[in-house]
Amino acid sequence: MTSSSPNIIAIDGPAASGKSTLGRSLAQTLGYIFFDTGVMYRAVTYLALQFDMDLRDEAVITKLAQDSKLDVRPATKEDGRANDIMAGDKDITWELRQGNVDANVSIVAAHAGVRTALSAQQRKIGLRGKIVMVGRDIGTVVLPEADIKVYLDASAEERAKRRYNEVIARGETADYEKILEKIIERDHIDSTRAVAPLKPAEDAVILDSDKMSVEEVLAHVLELCK
Ligand code: DC
Repeated sequence: MTSSSPNIIAIDGPAASGKSTLGRSLAQTLGYIFFDTGVMYRAVTYLALQFDMDLRDEAVITKLAQDSKLDVRPATKEDGRANDIMAGDKDITWELRQGNVDANVSIVAAHAGVRTALSAQQRKIGLRGKIVMVGRDIGTVVLPEADIKVYLDASAEERAKRRYNEVIARGETADYEKILEKIIERDHIDSTRAVAPLKPAEDAVILDSDKMSVEEVLAHVLELCK
């Protein structure tokens, strides 16, 4: 890439809108680092559940977020992961996709103290550059100076269908209606929280993945990068 290439690319949007798929392909095409910031909120949620903590106790969960030795490293296994997610020396990559983490992560992500602790770490990593960062508030809060900001949207029904297919593909059983209900609930919590609510940055390019294939979305964003 030339020196005029974007250094920081922010991709935000609701759960299962295709942000990670887009971010991974984009990073691979550009030779950039891919960083899905949702894993950090998931990791704190997973640890809090492990320690049987009260997820609604902001002070306790904030302390956990500040003290946890979380690390996001390049993937060492080819099992579909984008990164290795470590808590100390334990690989917790797949634990973060468990149903009880999915069901509770919005509560943890709504705590201002947790967001301050994790956003600061994310910002530090992002400022190293040549990075595609995916989340809910990358373009608005974590890296407002990002060179390219994409807000990837899709209807709740389409997103529930994708999550359903992912679970079935892993050989597990799934209930579409329940997944849809959970997605709507998470959207509501993520977009109405007091701190860094889910919303497009004013200068974001908004794309609707209901109407575009994965390839079309990628081609469009690569065009923006030129
Ligand atoms: O993208 P995901 O489903 O892994 O995100 C998990 C949760 O973390 C979700 O409730 C939104 C929240 N999140 C956030 O608030 N800010 C981010 N930058 C990334 C994720």
